[in-house]
Amino acid sequence: MDIKLLIEEALKARKFSYSPYSGFQVGAALLAKDGRIFTGCNIESASYTPSNCAERTAFFKAVSQGVRGFSAIAVVGGPKDAETLDFCTPCGVCRQVMMEFCDPKSFQVIVAKNPEEYQVFTLEEILPMGFGPKDLEREREL
Ligand code: THU
Repeated sequence: MDIKLLIEEALKARKFSYSPYSGFQVGAALLAKDGRIFTGCNIESASYTPSNCAERTAFFKAVSQGVRGFSAIAVVGGPKDAETLDFCTPCGVCRQVMMEFCDPKSFQVIVAKNPEEYQVFTLEEILPMGFGPKDLEREREL
């Protein structure tokens, strides 16, 4: 996997961020198992609640095109006018969406400031004891 390329795609996607209310711009690049990259940005709303994070935008684009297998996501975010970025970690809701479609032990979450400065976590590390589809499968078997 080319981590730097994935971060560059996330940085490009961040430029499309629609975030007039928070002024916090986020970009994500989701790598599918078939090699395709789905990008996303955060999209806010005047009524606040319907806002969508960059990570979920990327997931929903992919899933709505029939893709359900993923290996990694790169995330970059920070205030609109920031000269340099700090690490931006996915919110709890996005972690739960990752849990729906990804293997917690192998799916990699890359949080980056730029293509040279990044940290890599597994989904399990950022969502310990997550509740996912497997938990409901077991219930159905009983
Ligand atoms: N946001 C994301 O898109 N991803 C994250 O990982 C953290 C937060 C967005 C949501 C909202 O539009 C803005 O950043 C401020 O919370």
